Amino acid sequence: MRAAGLDYESRALDERDLPEPRGAGAGEALLRVREVGICGTDRELATFSIGFPPEGESFLVLGHEALAQVVEAGPGVKALKPGDWVVPLVRRPCNPPCFSCARGRRDLCLTGKALERGIFGLHGYFAEYAVDSEADLVRVPEALLDTAVLIEPLSVVEKAVETALRIHEPGARTALVFGAGPIGLLAAMVLELRGLRAAIVSLEPPDHPRARLVAAAGIEYLNTPGERKADIVIEAAGAADAAMAGLRSLAPLGVLGVLGSPDARGEIPFRDMLVKNQTVFGSVNASPEAFQRALEDLPRMDAGVLKRMIHRASFGDFATTIPAAAGGAAKVVHVIE
Ligand code: BGC
Repeated sequence: MRAAGLDYESRALDERDLPEPRGAGAGEALLRVREVGICGTDRELATFSIGFPPEGESFLVLGHEALAQVVEAGPGVKALKPGDWVVPLVRRPCNPPCFSCARGRRDLCLTGKALERGIFGLHGYFAEYAVDSEADLVRVPEALLDTAVLIEPLSVVEKAVETALRIHEPGARTALVFGAGPIGLLAAMVLELRGLRAAIVSLEPPDHPRARLVAAAGIEYLNTPGERKADIVIEAAGAADAAMAGLRSLAPLGVLGVLGSPDARGEIPFRDMLVKNQTVFGSVNASPEAFQRALEDLPRMDAGVLKRMIHRASFGDFATTIPAAAGGAAKVVHVIE
């Protein structure tokens, strides 16, 4: 079967012809992958700065944002049947499981040994077929197929927004999201669903397709960080400057969630933070519950905006879409024919 990924010997992004999976074992489903979304993590992987292949192998199949269809349900599978659509969880618990992994919160893994499909030590979904345990699959209703490939990135946002709201004392009303990419836009949309007034801060000029999509979603777009303060601030720009600007944008009691920033240098206003009871947290991956919330929220969001976010490409385009920073507002999604 066709598969796209990283060759750790030649250090190249490459296509391989890999053997098809043997079929579904007990509790597993054999999947035909239909769509794979690309994000900043794939771009980082392709620079070989993060990630590693499965033990004993030198190739890693990429792809962790997937939509797939069940081809075969193995013995003991309860809720899935051939033809069902699914989105896989990315992370697999560490073994033996730490306290978090054992209680179903692999996203909070304490050992750092949890693996991630398409990222850390397990093949991803940029291939024609894959096999997964039923427990690692989220069933998707047919009505959501057009945008279901967004469920994985949305789950990451759901976890972060839930964490921010849990940390904040009651009464959060305003939110600022740094970054107008898919994660930023989804974060602002979720915050609005939770009743906050959200604005997105990003560097693109207001006539840029990303800024126009923000406007189409009915979300205020700010081109400069300025003096605006907010109760909840989410860094979704993958930039250290954005995280630092986010810190300066916190209102009293404010909570900053960092989703993509690399290490930053600069003044951390601890004194101001303690006087104003402010909090900074980091967030990665998503719990199974966050995937369920994503499933519930997706149909509550503006379908037109979600569809405009997605730019579909063919399998073979990966050689250009993965290394290049996504242009425009697009979430590149490869269709696996
Ligand atoms: C994925 C997460 C993953 C993280 C770190 C993100 O792109 O959406 O599921 O945990 O990368 O590897």
